[in-house]
Amino acid sequence: MSQNSEDRKLKHLFDGGAWNVYEPDILNLGVGAPGTDLLASNCDNFRKATDHCLQRELRDNQSLIFQYGPTSGAYEVRHEIATYFSEMYGSPVKSEDLMITTGATQGLHLLLSTVVDFQGFIFVDEYTYMIALDSMKHFTSLTIVPVKLNDDGVDLKDLEEQVAKRRFDSKTKEFWGIYYTIPTYHNPTGILFSPEICRGIVQLARKYDFLVVCDDVYTILHYGEKPKHSRLMSYDDRSDPNFAGHVVSNGSFSKILGPGVRVGWLEVPPRIKPILDGSGFANSGGCFNNYTAGIVGSLFELRLAQKQIARFYEAYKERMLATTQVLRNELPEGCKLVSPTGGYFIWVRLPDPLDAREFLKYSLEHHKIYFIAGPRFSLDGETGKQFFRLSIAFYPKDKLVDGARRLCHALRDYIKDVS
Ligand SMILES: Cc1ncc(COP(=O)(O)O)c(C=O)c1O
Repeated sequence: MSQNSEDRKLKHLFDGGAWNVYEPDILNLGVGAPGTDLLASNCDNFRKATDHCLQRELRDNQSLIFQYGPTSGAYEVRHEIATYFSEMYGSPVKSEDLMITTGATQGLHLLLSTVVDFQGFIFVDEYTYMIALDSMKHFTSLTIVPVKLNDDGVDLKDLEEQVAKRRFDSKTKEFWGIYYTIPTYHNPTGILFSPEICRGIVQLARKYDFLVVCDDVYTILHYGEKPKHSRLMSYDDRSDPNFAGHVVSNGSFSKILGPGVRVGWLEVPPRIKPILDGSGFANSGGCFNNYTAGIVGSLFELRLAQKQIARFYEAYKERMLATTQVLRNELPEGCKLVSPTGGYFIWVRLPDPLDAREFLKYSLEHHKIYFIAGPRFSLDGETGKQFFRLSIAFYPKDKLVDGARRLCHALRDYIKDVS
């Protein structure tokens, strides 16, 4: 056995360090994943779905679920996903546009490795999902370009300026550049891009022929009124005379069934589907997660997925509303709070000239509360020092409410200490 003893003990991604989320005296508000209380009912549901799926495999399908799957995944599973998300988004999702992945992380990686010129550009919001940035940095010949972000979405003027001066004709790939964003309940800022911004992004993508990669992992988690406008992908309307296919949606069950399930899907226009289906990456192994996707398909057929997602949704909503209520009432003067209407994250701005990294050190040392300071979400690792991000996903409501109070208290003490 070559594993060391620490390695053998690890049970989850946030395990092993000083900030293990399951240590009772630690409050880790950095974790963007559902907690144990939400995951527990998966055991029973997945057992039933597994029985359902495997009985059918034996009876009707020559156990082909264990074979290399079709590159996009079994049609029946894509049909279940398309039906459910058409209803949730309020705009049609077509089974034939879907490709099963092992989650949004892999979906992004697949796009980076297949559709964008390796001498090309990735435009990102000035604050963005930090681990997507880490994934992009593996592609060392690609240049990552941050673009200004406003409260209603990306700054269209800045996006156009950045794009216009870099555009080139790719000789090797379908696109010379991509714009990666999280337009619905953005990570880390929690914002929802407005219809005007969504429309503007699609216009620019068509004008300069770059691909927009929408991370849609939080899109159905709206806690106020359901947004009147639809997700960004629907602005790339197929009935438009100049439609060519400039937006993809990257979906996942990680936040709504469990990250360990490792099933997600890409929803792509016809222009891109053959590139993905024909890639060596997909053809070598077939469907990226044929077996588990089949179980998830059964979970939908049995209507267990729908119930489970509804449970997660209600819990997140309660957590977000309770936590933002405390923060609104108790954050010290001069702090600015973006109260999101959906998703996982709350983005707090400290009064000038405070630095969230310094406050984090103080909070860890004196209060054992962890959160993520703004610079982690920027390309240079420096921009955003006045911000920090809290996640509402992991802990039950009471622990979050208590934690938010303690955090506000810690911040008041810190401000007193440094002023
Ligand atoms: C914006 C965003 N995209 C992707 C992921 C990871 O998704 P998956 O588990 O489907 O790979 C996360 C998880 O925190 C996220 O916040």
